[in-house]
Amino acid sequence: MKYLFILFLFLISCNQTKEFSDIDKEVDDILKSMTLDEKVGQMTQINLTVIAKGPNKWSSSFPLEIDHKKTKKAIVDYKVGSVLNTINNTAQKPKVWFKTISDIQSYAIDSTKMKIPIIYGIDAIHGTTYTDGATMFPQQITTAASWNPENAYNMAVVCAYETRASSIPWNFSPVLDLGLDPRFPRQFETFGEDPLIVERFGDAMIKGYQGDKNDISNKYNVAACMKHFVGYQAVISGKDRTPAYIPDNVLSEYHIEPFKKAIESGAKTIMINSGLINGVPVHADYNLMINVLRNKLGFQGVILTDWEDIRKLHDRDKVAKTQREAIKIAINAGIDMSMVPYEYEHFIKNLKSLVEEGEVSIERIDDAVKRILKLKLELDLFNNPVTNYEEYDDFGSKKHHELAYKSASESITLLKNNDDILPLKGKPRILVTGPNGNNMRTLNGAWTYSWQGELTDDFAGEYNTIYESIRNTYGSSNVKYIPGVSYRKGANYYEMDEIDIQKVVNEARRSDYIILCLGENTYTEKPGDLNDLNIHRLQSKLAIELSKTGKPIILILNLGRPRLISDIEPLMSAVVNVYLPGNFGADALADILSGKVNPSGKLPYTYPAYPNSLLPYYYKPSEVQNNAQGAYNYVGEVNNLYDFGYGLSYSDFKYSKLSVNKDTFNIDENINIEVSITNDSDVDGYETVQLYSSDLYASITPDVKRLRDFKKIHIKSGEAKTVSFSLPVSELEFYNINNSPVVEEGKFKLSINTFTKEIYIK
Ligand code: BGC
Repeated sequence: MKYLFILFLFLISCNQTKEFSDIDKEVDDILKSMTLDEKVGQMTQINLTVIAKGPNKWSSSFPLEIDHKKTKKAIVDYKVGSVLNTINNTAQKPKVWFKTISDIQSYAIDSTKMKIPIIYGIDAIHGTTYTDGATMFPQQITTAASWNPENAYNMAVVCAYETRASSIPWNFSPVLDLGLDPRFPRQFETFGEDPLIVERFGDAMIKGYQGDKNDISNKYNVAACMKHFVGYQAVISGKDRTPAYIPDNVLSEYHIEPFKKAIESGAKTIMINSGLINGVPVHADYNLMINVLRNKLGFQGVILTDWEDIRKLHDRDKVAKTQREAIKIAINAGIDMSMVPYEYEHFIKNLKSLVEEGEVSIERIDDAVKRILKLKLELDLFNNPVTNYEEYDDFGSKKHHELAYKSASESITLLKNNDDILPLKGKPRILVTGPNGNNMRTLNGAWTYSWQGELTDDFAGEYNTIYESIRNTYGSSNVKYIPGVSYRKGANYYEMDEIDIQKVVNEARRSDYIILCLGENTYTEKPGDLNDLNIHRLQSKLAIELSKTGKPIILILNLGRPRLISDIEPLMSAVVNVYLPGNFGADALADILSGKVNPSGKLPYTYPAYPNSLLPYYYKPSEVQNNAQGAYNYVGEVNNLYDFGYGLSYSDFKYSKLSVNKDTFNIDENINIEVSITNDSDVDGYETVQLYSSDLYASITPDVKRLRDFKKIHIKSGEAKTVSFSLPVSELEFYNINNSPVVEEGKFKLSINTFTKEIYIK
């Protein structure tokens, strides 16, 4: 029997090898017949507006239609191989996508000699962003707060399905950046500040997108695109696409690990960081793209630029004297496809002449084109160039909506609950107020029906705002909404107006509870840059005025990054962070407020208290220095409002009996750790057990602690459970000053909750 099984495995592996070599052979055959024009065309990606009907290449007219002349020029004459995005940043119906992509494919397939289908790419980052009717999940940061990677997997499975239902096979997701800076405008697109969480959730998304068997020819899977390689959010200024200075060992230790894991899982494509590290724009960095990504991490897939980033080597970063030189630098540094996405004629002509004049080798071009052709073959685009929405009955289905609701309900994080004020039972009189209380836009964040998310209320009317969900739960005669302050229409996302604070205060006096919904309007990338991390002063004003009524206030935070609320937080009876929970977030929140759902989310980032103390939880000991003589108070201590990993429950979990199987371990051993948790309350609940380690002394200053594993478990009222972890000693490694991973001999501390154990590694 055993031998039969081995024979079976052998046959499977032969079959796979055959399949792979078949594709490689096909790639070689196609490549042999291609001209240089055809090759550089394949390396070019253009924006849909460039070939859609409309006034110019930057904007199109509605309804979306392909323009014959423009498309013929790009796809047939210039042989462009890829198209991205939507028109004018607006979501389209699946039917429109089907027609659009079918039209483009017919140019590529029927009117060119090589008949190579185009590959269409899109940003579908928490659901299928640019498709009307798609299921919008919580954003990645919210998903991470569930501490349950299954939610990331579900989101990716649904998103792959609905993206394919929109005829699109390639998704620029997941974001594997480390979201360690609350000032950065894209922290909400990440899984937060911890490398292990980013790695586990990122991996779950790759599997969800590409399928458990990593078969992207399957019409329910898409090719994933990990982004943005690498170190994108670790900038000095906190602003998008500004300089970062990151030593190699720090890059390896925190930023590269999640990409490494996703590559092992077979992620097909990668997008490069639009910024610069140590003065080198990453799009010009041969070391990062070739030495690290290709040679060290073994990535075989397509390397794509981010938006206009080759052009920026000349225009913005000044490392190339001309556009032509910019192309030469980027392609020689390892770029396979350029998201041009407008001036494609220049890109194609320049790249062609660079090859003809020997400045870019034909081998480099062939290498890039092979990877692109292989991706197209793996997606089976030659046989199925366009998937048809009519074959996707589950698009926007109840089944998909339920998964989005589940994710939101497991993510929402209870941060404060004085005197167990929550849940709110019975039928109290509730005043809902604040700028985030009655719209779908702020619940979803950016990348929802449009890039900046400003159109959400036009598309998501059928879902509930916070006010609507609370009204549905507590009855319309008991619930009122008055905004107090609001985001200014058509202005920068952060501008606000005072509307009717006095009216809110008057109504508050007649209410039993105030549900104050504060946070941020939607933004991403450069438009989301921030000068002041404090929550807008008008929002603080509303909170302060309401607190004077003496009525209990439940603060709902609806934001993409932790804005500072230290001045108003003490005035709140309860604080609930919903982050950006998507179209079903308000329903999940109402269920938590009423006690139907017991909250179980935990912060995937450190919630800072002060603007000059912005540190992830894995800071170095010198961040906290106390004066031994006690004569002075030192400023600069780590003073968080709420710690990473923090979140309350309606249950009361008591930890006890932390044990480790022995005291001393060799490098090749596993450490077995156990802890007991009792639910000492009358409510069933979920608890996330977090295992941390601290290296006590090391050749470079160790982090105060690092998350090594976590498990989210259900514990019934009165029940006790034992949770076990098996931690390979090798996972205690860090990258030393020579950028080599090492576990150094010495003492380590393991901790779970408030319990610790010291062990020795030989
Ligand atoms: C963003 C990417 C995105 C690309 C395509 C860029 O500006 O940085 O994350 O995938 O646009 O829309």
